[in-house]
Amino acid sequence: MEKIRIAVQKSGRLNQDSLKILKDCGISIENGKDQLKASARNFPLEVFYLRNGDIPQYLRDGVVDIAIIGENVLVEKGADIDFTDRLGFSKCKVSLAVPKGVAYNSVTDFEGKRIATSYPNTVKNYLAEKGVSAELHIINGSVEIAPNIGLADAICDIVSSGSTLFKNNLKEVEIMFTSEAVLAVSPKISDARRAILEKIRFRIQSVLQARE
Ligand code: PRP
Ligand code: MG
Repeated sequence: MEKIRIAVQKSGRLNQDSLKILKDCGISIENGKDQLKASARNFPLEVFYLRNGDIPQYLRDGVVDIAIIGENVLVEKGADIDFTDRLGFSKCKVSLAVPKGVAYNSVTDFEGKRIATSYPNTVKNYLAEKGVSAELHIINGSVEIAPNIGLADAICDIVSSGSTLFKNNLKEVEIMFTSEAVLAVSPKISDARRAILEKIRFRIQSVLQARE
C-alpha cells in the first residue's frame, strides 16, 4: 500500500509537539529521531526528519507530501504552499524590535535603518506594504545580538516568551503576524496520498477538539 510522506522538524521547537500530535492521532512511529526516516507501525505513513528551512522546498518538489511546519517558515520560504490545518502549538509572533533606549513612534522609523533578521522576505514585504525601505542584514541565528555589537539598528525575529528580547535589551515595537504550527501540503500530492491526508486530518481535528 502507498504511504504518505510527512516532514517533521528534525530538532528544535516543533519536533516534540509534532511527534506528540501524531501519537495522539494513534500513529506510532517506529524509530527515534536519530534516524532521518521512520515508518509508522499501524498507519501508511513515513516520517522524514528535516531542517525547518528546507521543508518548503521538499514540499514544492513533491519529495514529501505533507509537513508539520511553523507558519513563520511558510510565510518566509513557502508563500506558494498551502496548509490545511492550524495545529495549535508552537505559537509565536514574528516581530520587529529595537534597543530599549530608542524612542519609537511608527513603522516609518525603520526608513533607512539596518535590520538584522533570518526572515528577509517577511520583513521586505511587510515594510514595502508600508512604503518603508530598510537595509536588511541576513543572519541565521542569535539575531538579537546584532544591535549590541553595532551590526544593526533593529532586528526581526520570532518572539515566544520574550526572554531573548529582554536579555538583549530590546523591545518589541511591531508584531508583523502571529504564527503556529500548521499542516502544509505539497502541490504535487497524488490523489491516493490525498486520501490518506484526509484520514490524518480527521484524526487531528478530533485530537485538537479534545485538547480544547
Ligand atoms: C529563537 C528565535 C528567538 C527566540 C525567541 O531562537 O530566533 O531568538 O528563540 O524565543 P523567546 O521569545 O522565548 O526568547 P533560538 O533560541 O531557537 O536560537 P537561534 O536564533 O540561534 O536559532
Ligand atoms: Mg534566536
